[in-house]
Amino acid sequence: MRKLLGKTGIFSLVLSLLYRGVSSVDISQCIGPLGMENGLIKDHDVTASSSFDPLNVGPQHGRIRTELNGGAWCPQSPATQDTKEWIEIDLHSVHLITGTETQGRFGNGLGVEYAEEYVIEYFRPRLNKWTRYRSKTNNHLLKGNQNTYLESKTSLDPPIWASKIRFLPYSSHRRTVCMRVEVYGCKWTDEILSYSMPQGDKKGNNWEFYDFSYDGDWDGYLLKSGLGQLVDGLTAPDDFRESFQFKNLQGWVGWRSDLREDNFIDITFEFGKLREFRGLYIFCNNQFLRDVQVFSALEVFFSIDGTKYKGAPIRYDHVSDSIFEDAKNISVGLLHRVGKFVKLRLHFAAKWILVSEVRFDTMDVRTDFVEADSDSVLPTTKSNLVEFEIKESSDYGMYLGIVVSALVLLLLVMGFVVVFVFLHQRRLRKFDVPRGVQSGNKGLNFYEGPPLDIITIPPDYDLPAEDFEYSVPLQEGYASPSDTLGRNATAYSDSEQYYTSVDMCNKKTYFSPPPSVLDSPNLTKPLNYDMNYTKRLN
Ligand SMILES: *[C@@H]1O[C@H](CO)[C@@H](O)[C@H](O)[C@H]1NC(C)=O
Repeated sequence: MRKLLGKTGIFSLVLSLLYRGVSSVDISQCIGPLGMENGLIKDHDVTASSSFDPLNVGPQHGRIRTELNGGAWCPQSPATQDTKEWIEIDLHSVHLITGTETQGRFGNGLGVEYAEEYVIEYFRPRLNKWTRYRSKTNNHLLKGNQNTYLESKTSLDPPIWASKIRFLPYSSHRRTVCMRVEVYGCKWTDEILSYSMPQGDKKGNNWEFYDFSYDGDWDGYLLKSGLGQLVDGLTAPDDFRESFQFKNLQGWVGWRSDLREDNFIDITFEFGKLREFRGLYIFCNNQFLRDVQVFSALEVFFSIDGTKYKGAPIRYDHVSDSIFEDAKNISVGLLHRVGKFVKLRLHFAAKWILVSEVRFDTMDVRTDFVEADSDSVLPTTKSNLVEFEIKESSDYGMYLGIVVSALVLLLLVMGFVVVFVFLHQRRLRKFDVPRGVQSGNKGLNFYEGPPLDIITIPPDYDLPAEDFEYSVPLQEGYASPSDTLGRNATAYSDSEQYYTSVDMCNKKTYFSPPPSVLDSPNLTKPLNYDMNYTKRLN
């Protein structure tokens, strides 16, 4: 029975590790080229508003570091301040885009066209509109090129979520332009389509805790159907003032309690499909000396249609920290509840709540769960909840579990073998003196190397670490330690005084147990000294 439990434990551990990787984007890793240069993006997914000559300088030639035909995409009309020409890349699914890169037309030295500046516009189904990118400094112009051959790369801060992206050449004066482009980022695997919440508030005259990068709609109070700072993977500094040192360079979204009737804030997340929730992380500011504190309680509601939130919410009460002002990454277990919409209700503990990041740990839902009548399956009471916990040992999971556990077991066994061999080797290489002596005594460390198979020290033959009188002689022909080990002469002469006698070094015996051990009044241990020991050696 115990064994069985242990096994299931390994199963679920391994499975949870496997699932974990799937759920969220690590922005520092989200920097790969998406495929203009390497061809992952196909020709038919690259389109343009127009081309000067579709065959020679059509959009399919707008690939960075690529020289084909004319060697770039060139629109029909010159670039002006009125951006209307574009080259578009269809990524088919939502990607987190963290960088863009452009290059002019080199065309084997014949090209003279490049765009000094450009604008990015992006589209994703949930937004259902083209949105112009603005940087954190509220600038929509991105730096382009200065010549026809050098590339220019820009990190998008904040990043954007897009399934389609357009580059629009811009110029303060009329000029002919051509472009080659690349986009950097990764697939958006979080399944979060949008979140909705009240726009942040302003603190004093200087601090606007708005969600600056939010790209959805704002109805004057609520932000709707967009994504922004809360999910961009960028964490704000512990001290919110630091994030305002440059204009609008901030990562905290904040709300103040005295502006609202309710003593809480609701943030609703919408997912692309039904998800099973393991947990959530919410990164909150805790500068209590400035009226900011982590929420006192967090309630989490689940819904399938976004209107009816059924069942008791999961409640998490936060014990406030009024000692350390550092921001807190709070994790809350979500008990495998299922839903497509998750509403977080944050209760104020102080005048302000500031949030920088919210991240969910989710997994796919069992198929039979999805097929069930969606209204009736949501747990309605807490006791009900257990029924809806997803069993991880589905047939596939079981099979996977067995394979993985076998592998883990194999690894463990190999690990043990390696450790055993290592220890064994060490035992052979080092003169096997009792532990206490070896670690405490520098002098003894020089005794390495004698192949002392014949000598076994009784395990309980232990000595005080400080006792240098007890020592082990050099063997015949044993080079001076300073020679063999390259240690300095001082260290050697320091330890030399501990050698029992020079004579012994010349004897054939590798080791002679010191009679002093038995005689010495300082030593307490040798009472159980093995008397056969001396005989065996002789
Ligand atoms: C919070 O902790 C989780 C789990 O360790 C981690 O994945 C997440 O990135 C952290 N969030 C922040 C903002 O540090």
